[in-house]
Amino acid sequence: MINQEQLIKKAFEAQKFSYAPYSQFNVGAALLCADGTIYTGCNIENAAFSPTNCAERTAFFKAISEGKKDFVAIAIVGNKSNVEKGQGDYCAPCAVCRQVMAEFCDLEKFQVIMAKDDNDYIENTLGELIPLAFTGKDLNS
Ligand code: THU
Repeated sequence: MINQEQLIKKAFEAQKFSYAPYSQFNVGAALLCADGTIYTGCNIENAAFSPTNCAERTAFFKAISEGKKDFVAIAIVGNKSNVEKGQGDYCAPCAVCRQVMAEFCDLEKFQVIMAKDDNDYIENTLGELIPLAFTGKDLNS
């Protein structure tokens, strides 16, 4: 199984493909599946703004659309294009992405890794980032 540093490297590779002409905020993500496969994603902006897709959701939708269902961790990197790698802040996932993660991931086990550099990162469980998540269980209770 790969480690945090390797997953972060994949997120930085994906960040290179970020399409962010409006915000200049480039995000990359790398999603580790339980079978060891990795799906990467970048943010993809749009002139109409609301069709913009975050890097995390790009990675999740790629994975789910190819039949993956079990996820272990996601590494996220993000910074303005004029800011050097390692100099920005940790990029936390937006609330919409947290909700998408909560649909597919175990709140206690799934790890969200937010990195400035390959070996400078913070890590939280999904449950720490979205306490009292509204999920399918609520609809069935
Ligand atoms: N963005 C992401 O891709 N992921 C995040 O976790 C935060 C925000 C993107 C959306 C938009 O393209 C840009 O960053 C600025 O909000």
